[in-house]
Amino acid sequence: MKVMVTGGAGFIGSHTIKALLDLGYETVCVDDFNGYYDPAIKKRNVSQFRGVKGFTLYRQDITDLKAMSSIFKKEKPARVCHLAARAGVRASIEDPFIYEKVNVRGTLNMLELARLNNVGNFVLASSSSVYGNNKKIPFSETDNVDYPISPYAATKKAAELLAYNYHHLYSLNCTCLRFFTVYGPFGRPDMAPYLFTDAIYKGRKINRFGDGTSKRDFTYVSDIVSGIVSALGVKPGYEIINLGNNNPVELNYFISLIEKALGRKAVINQLPPQAGDVNITYADISKAKKLLGYTPKTGIEEGLKFLVDWYLKTAGTRR
Ligand SMILES: NC(=O)c1ccc[n+]([C@@H]2O[C@H](COP(=O)([O-])OP(=O)(O)OC[C@H]3O[C@@H](n4cnc5c(N)ncnc54)[C@H](O)[C@@H]3O)[C@@H](O)[C@H]2O)c1
Repeated sequence: MKVMVTGGAGFIGSHTIKALLDLGYETVCVDDFNGYYDPAIKKRNVSQFRGVKGFTLYRQDITDLKAMSSIFKKEKPARVCHLAARAGVRASIEDPFIYEKVNVRGTLNMLELARLNNVGNFVLASSSSVYGNNKKIPFSETDNVDYPISPYAATKKAAELLAYNYHHLYSLNCTCLRFFTVYGPFGRPDMAPYLFTDAIYKGRKINRFGDGTSKRDFTYVSDIVSGIVSALGVKPGYEIINLGNNNPVELNYFISLIEKALGRKAVINQLPPQAGDVNITYADISKAKKLLGYTPKTGIEEGLKFLVDWYLKTAGTRR
């Protein structure tokens, strides 16, 4: 079976492609290698697939409908795993327009092409950020998500709504997966797990926004990938499903685990809480368990050790 993975050169995308190729799927990776973070990292992410049977790469912007239409006609993917997006809460406040263009228009392009090309299942990367500062925890798929606190969150909610619309009008099978703070080897260089590891290792200060008591439901990347792969295999109609770890940890504890794994102390640059950041993320994963057989296997203590081990092996190879 052939799966188109948009954003396949990114962090979660490249892990997903690796898992799909290992399972014998053909994969069509579409990525524009934009400069949100160093594109050399994305090139390295996909370099592992060069020459691998069943892997095809397109350097393409998903907002170009015509060009994407040609790729669909040529490749005829049976499934779409739509991960391409502008990610990052803070950057979305600085430039909301590019977030709207890629995450909303880009997703609409993908849905339109999926229905025109009879794609059997469309899996969309959504985000825990849609829950905003909801007070009820853990966050459940039936909770109200009408109050996003960043443009990024608003675009992810918009993408979910468009997916529902395509399901309603055209019976396109869609699963919107709400990922909760994903981390692991090859992690995004703009996210705390990598940023903190790199700074502590190199003796630079880390920026701690707030007093460190905010909590995140950090989820190890291979657990997320197992959920994505399961979602590609089922025909759900339309579903929204949380993929988290169901065990939020305090930022201060998270920092202490990186310190322990590196054997170095962090130097903290204390800053006020950031606009757009939520106080806690906490996933209710009972629906994922039921529909996808999803059970996260890697706790934060082990997962951060994997991240740091990978970092130490590759330290210095990233700018
Ligand atoms: N990492 C997380 O903690 C997290 C949490 C919630 C949701 N998500 C979502 O998961 C998905 C993957 O995130 P990630 O952490 O791997 O981010 P990433 O930035 O590493 O990957 C996204 C990829 O999409 C590509 N892309 C962006 N705009 C594109 C465009 N116009 N055309 C083609 N390709 C484009 C980028 O070049 C990048 O390689 C995103 O949709 C993100 O919003 C991630």
